[in-house]
Amino acid sequence: MMVKFENLKIDYIVREGAVKVVDGITFGVERGRVTALIGESGSGKSTLAKAILRTNSPNAKVSKESRIIFNGENLLDLSAEQIRRFRWQKAAMVFQAAQNALNPTMRIKDQLLDTMMDHEEKFDYGRALKKASDLLEMVRLIPGRALNAYPHELSGGMRQRVIIAMALLLDPEFLILDEPTTALDVITQSYIFDLLDEIHKRLGITMFFITHDVSAVARLAHNVAVLYAGKIFETGPSEALFRFPVHPYSQGLLSAIPSIEGEQVSRKAIPGMPPDLINKPSGCVFHPRCYLAENICSMKEPPLINMGEGRLAACFRWEEAKKAGLS
Ligand SMILES: Nc1ncnc2c1ncn2[C@@H]1O[C@H](COP(=O)(O)OP(=O)(O)OP(=O)(O)O)[C@@H](O)[C@H]1O
Ligand SMILES: [Mg+2]
Repeated sequence: MMVKFENLKIDYIVREGAVKVVDGITFGVERGRVTALIGESGSGKSTLAKAILRTNSPNAKVSKESRIIFNGENLLDLSAEQIRRFRWQKAAMVFQAAQNALNPTMRIKDQLLDTMMDHEEKFDYGRALKKASDLLEMVRLIPGRALNAYPHELSGGMRQRVIIAMALLLDPEFLILDEPTTALDVITQSYIFDLLDEIHKRLGITMFFITHDVSAVARLAHNVAVLYAGKIFETGPSEALFRFPVHPYSQGLLSAIPSIEGEQVSRKAIPGMPPDLINKPSGCVFHPRCYLAENICSMKEPPLINMGEGRLAACFRWEEAKKAGLS
């Protein structure tokens, strides 16, 4: 495993109380593979991603028993200086709407070189420029043009490709992509997904892909984790999980996408709304919305249960759910 989350709990402290956004998450991201974390808006995806690089907002409280193990080391124990070095060199992140984060007053070249200068002990101008050019080429930009451009001279998709190149400047082992294509049109999104697939194959870099756009990751990811209200509900190899999701929530979430064979799947939409994260339902947080819920579901919280073939689901009634999903 490249990264292992162990009982990760993150609350946001607000006037009304503690918003339990990441609520005891345990799962791993396999080295050299693409792992996708999917879940609706507000399920805690960005909060989890930011915890890796420790860029959560100041009112985020990570509980003491939480661990994020990266190459055998607990990232939550690193000092501020250690985490600064960890960012970019070991792990980089392309975040939501990052294309708007470029400095509008600086040429792309200077932004790329500055990033390297800030993080490299032995900065060599010629070598840095070569590296920047190579990476721009990898994201299918013409280096001669892109290097001298100001951000406003590039399209949104081109800017996002610059950001991806930037994330790779210091040869990180781990790349976090948090909704890397939101705010881009569908064709540009698809182009960027192809590009990321190519980068993954060329560099063998471990990717952690975060999105609510399920159809986008279906073709890219090897492994998937489904997040709901700060809890992992289901994990497994993506091909099998997308073909037949077992957890009743995953079934509802994935009902929106057409099946791989192209036939329209007609599963029911999920009734109700995601829970209040300050006062969560007892037992399984999903039970008020679940078509299979029975007494135990409101009383006890289901652990992730091993269903074989690398698949896990946090559902007491997974066997019935599996049958219902297959029929
Ligand atoms: N600093 C904060 N203080 C209080 N609540 C916050 C804070 N940041 C986020 N939240 C809340 O935490 C929940 C999870 O937020 P998060 O950004 O992790 O969700 P997400 O899954 O990334 O959603 P999206 O798909 O919209 O990006 C949301 O309900 C959000 O409103
Ligand atoms: Mg987010």
